[in-house]
Parts: sequence; structure tokens; C-alpha cells
Amino acid sequence: MAEDFLPLNGTDHVELYVGNAKQSAYYYQMAWGYELIAYSGPETGVRDRASYVLQQGKIRLVLTSAMHPDSEITRHVAQHGDGVKFLAIWVDDAEKSFYETMSRGAKAHTQPTVMSDQFGEVKISAIHTYGDTVHKFVERKNYKGAFLPGYSPAKSSVKTTSVGLKHVDHCVGNVELGRMNEWVKFYEDVMGFKLLITFDDSDISTEYSALMSKVVSNGNGYIKFPINEPADGKRKSQIEEYIEFYHGAGVQHVAIATDDIITTVTELRNRGVEFLHVPEVYYEEVWDRVGKINEDVATIKKLNILVDRDDEGYLLQLFTKPVQDRPTVFFEIIQRCGAKSFGKGNFKALFEAIEREQALRGNL
Ligand code: FE2
Repeated sequence: MAEDFLPLNGTDHVELYVGNAKQSAYYYQMAWGYELIAYSGPETGVRDRASYVLQQGKIRLVLTSAMHPDSEITRHVAQHGDGVKFLAIWVDDAEKSFYETMSRGAKAHTQPTVMSDQFGEVKISAIHTYGDTVHKFVERKNYKGAFLPGYSPAKSSVKTTSVGLKHVDHCVGNVELGRMNEWVKFYEDVMGFKLLITFDDSDISTEYSALMSKVVSNGNGYIKFPINEPADGKRKSQIEEYIEFYHGAGVQHVAIATDDIITTVTELRNRGVEFLHVPEVYYEEVWDRVGKINEDVATIKKLNILVDRDDEGYLLQLFTKPVQDRPTVFFEIIQRCGAKSFGKGNFKALFEAIEREQALRGNL
């Protein structure tokens, strides 16, 4: 096998551009149990923005807001609402990552740059992907600080309690009708990813809505990016609704792994995080489909958790409602018990649930 020209160590962080980072940070601390670890803003000498770095397990969420109207952050938020700007990837060589992908057709966002402070140095570079979304390559082997140079360690007076979130499992992009294959080819050609799975509308269609989805992954499987596009249905699909309200392609959801979905979802529900409602009827057929699992089935049903099985095991998953007023970005909680797939068997049940929410918004 040819040497991997783009070795990736995992997700470094996910940065969202939001309307009010201070208040978003409070939500992710109080409701989700993330801990504030670093901050950058006017108090640290950064004049045009404020960024809050939140951590739980290996997940780092960065929430950034602008100080002024004439700012790419302000324009991003005006266009897309709160949304994911950077899917940052941890690499050993940010310069090589940049030139290897550029030589294969990537569009440059940030030339390789060294940033340093008293804790060492970080090299970054970045390339564009779908919509206004950017992949940042972060090389931090010579850095001991809280997050990145320019950020100060921070502690919040908000008392946070972990809900057991461990790491980013996968990040899903929604792209415009007819453009899924173009973006799959981008990940194959430019980033050396492999196509893992294809779902077409025979897998994922309901009476009204359909979508096509392909999953690409890097060589070691640490980075998995499913890409969705709308498919023809009777009415507007959830992917079209996303594209309409995000005003373009973008990150649809970030899936976060837990080892104990029952505890995680119980805690999140107690703290007011809203999840999609799964119809009662789902649980009438699910046990025939997936067989025996180790968890208590009554608890799984009570918490509205979805279950699926593949050749290697089973998985438990659940999707939040959108986490801002626009029906765009949401999160998935996933516990893998052997299964390496993405819950194909749940797609139909799930989309029927999403469509009920769409109908309530008058967007079906
Ligand atoms: Fe997912």
C-alpha cells in the first residue's frame, strides 16, 4: 500500500462562529458539561474577537464572536447563523499537510504559519472545503500551553459536571443537490480519503424526504466525514431545509462518542438539552431488527435512544434538535458496541421524526 501522504492524528478542535460566544459558552458549560480551559479576546490583546475554548474528554469546542460589523466572523454569522467554521485536524506536520493537499488541488485558506508564546510553538495551515467551512491543520508537538498561542488559560465560575463525552466520532456535511460526488472526490483526491459507505434513496427515504449520503474516512479511520445531499422526495427534505437556512453547504452535525449513553443522555435531558422525539412504534420493531443488547431495553426506550446493528456489533445513538434557532446544526451522541457503521437502519425512523419537526416549523 502506498504511504499515506496525509497522516492525521484525529480531530484537534471544532470552532463555531456564533452570535454571542459568551452566552453560548455558558450553554455548553451548563447543559453539556464542557469545561472552559482557555480564552482569547480584548483582555488578552486580541481586539477584534472573543473566543472561548471548552473541553470535555478529548473534545475541544471553540466558540468565537466578532467585536465589530466589518468582520469575516460577523458576515459568516449573518449568512449562516451560528455554525461550524473550522473542522481542525491534529497533524504532525502542518506544512507538509498543506503542500500535499495543495499539490492535489486544495484551495488555500491559511499558508503555513508559526505561532509562538512562552509555552512553545504551534504550526498551522488551512484549506477550504464545502461551503465556507475550513479544514485547519494543527501541529502542536512543540507546544505545552492551554490551547494555542494567543489564548490564555481560563477558568470559569460556572460549576460544570461532565456528562461523559469522550471524543469526536464523525462530522457530517450537507452539500447542495448534485454536489455530493464532487465533494467525495475532493476528499479522495485532495486528502487521500477512502469511500467507506454509500447510502442511496432506497436506504434513506420516507414518504416525503430522501437523501443520499457517502462516508469518507482517512487511512487510520480517526477522521470520518459523511457527506449528504438532498434527493428527490414529495416535499422538501431535511437537507434542503438545512441548505435553505444555512444559505449554503455546511456542517450538519458533529457526532460525539460516549461509553455510557444512558448516563450521558439522562444528564443532558435533565439539563434541558432537547432531542428528537422517536415514535413509540420504533420500539415495536427495533428488537427484532437488532437482537439482544447489554443495556436495559426499557431504559433505552424511555430515553428515546436509537439502536442499530451491523456485522461487527451494535450501536446506540441519539440526535439533538438544532442547537440554534435556524434549523441547521445539531449534535449526535453515539455509543459504539462493536459496530463501525452509522445507524443506517435508523435513518428511516429518524427522518420520519425529523419531518414531524419540520412540519411544525412549516417547512415541509
Ligand atoms: Fe451521524
